[in-house]
Amino acid sequence: MSIFVTGGAGYIGSVIAERLSADGERVVCLDDLSTGHRDAVVTETEFVQGTILNSTLVESVLRQHSVDTVIHCAGFSIVDESIRDPLRYFENNVVGGHALLRAMNSCGVRRIVFSSTAAVYGAPCSTPMDETHPIAPINPYGRSKRMVEEMFEWHARAYGLSFLSLRYFNAGGASARFGEHHSPETHLIPIALDVAAGARDALTVYGNAYPTPDGTCVRDFVHVEDLADGHARAVDYLRRGGDSGAINLGSGSGHSVLQVARAVEHVTGQTLRLEFGEPRENEAHTLVASREKALALLGWAPSRSNIEQIVADARRWRQQHPRGYAQ
Ligand SMILES: NC(=O)c1ccc[n+]([C@@H]2O[C@H](COP(=O)([O-])OP(=O)(O)OC[C@H]3O[C@@H](n4cnc5c(N)ncnc54)[C@H](O)[C@@H]3O)[C@@H](O)[C@H]2O)c1
Repeated sequence: MSIFVTGGAGYIGSVIAERLSADGERVVCLDDLSTGHRDAVVTETEFVQGTILNSTLVESVLRQHSVDTVIHCAGFSIVDESIRDPLRYFENNVVGGHALLRAMNSCGVRRIVFSSTAAVYGAPCSTPMDETHPIAPINPYGRSKRMVEEMFEWHARAYGLSFLSLRYFNAGGASARFGEHHSPETHLIPIALDVAAGARDALTVYGNAYPTPDGTCVRDFVHVEDLADGHARAVDYLRRGGDSGAINLGSGSGHSVLQVARAVEHVTGQTLRLEFGEPRENEAHTLVASREKALALLGWAPSRSNIEQIVADARRWRQQHPRGYAQ
């Protein structure tokens, strides 16, 4: 039996594959390296370069490696880009998700853990958000993830698929070996660390008149190793016959952009130059998770997700990899 990790050369997928390998699982990763890095693939795993859109390739990998469970991290995830180019997002995330499901169906693989997102909820009606919060994505990225969740729900009824959609809030931090390297980088913590290291001039804060305590957006940061732990537990849960559904993975506490900037200043000892820009289109001002369901069903509670720990681990990785991954 093996676990098939799509997007295993990406930031979160690499840390999940690392964790599962350390647990003694046989892991095979598929990635087209569109935003991932060959150097981020765990050496203990099998690696196949290719796209989830290629059902024939995916079917051959599922059969060859006797895959019993899929962890589906592959996808595009930049909100702004999805607004500018929704076709690309629906193609890769939705058509790709469909192709993956079709391959799983024809090979009789019936378990999947999915990298979903808090962006499926849209603007907050209540905080913290639990899984019964209304679903109303406000950008094509969130909608594309929700469409995949809906495909799972119908596949579960029709073909007996077991699935968990893990709705991550904001991933951060690094493991001992793997960290965050996106090009272009759009995530707050790596950008703020670049400013602290003198590699960028200033941190742009998009909007400072939101209805939040300091006017800047509030996000829930979850350590990437805690996310990996959530996936290991999700696989175990599905293998034990647990019910399908959606589960939030977040720390349960929110930090504003300015609070994150202060945490970066505290960890690095540098003062960040801030610039204030226009609010970004279709962005929720506050996204904070309720993590009660994750605790109840998976026994999951984050252990490294305090903001200083996340920033310190991200910084350590960036100091060890000043230019990110070589490949
Ligand atoms: N980073 C976050 O804070 C966050 C939050 C919520 C959800 N997510 C979701 O988690 C997943 C992983 O995010 P990440 O930050 O690690 O992003 P990432 O870009 O580092 O990883 C995605 C990986 O998928 C690969 N990929 C993309 N399309 C593919 C395709 N068609 N076939 C094969 N491989 C493909 C990329 O090359 C990359 O290695 C994404 O699906 C994202 O939507 C991330």
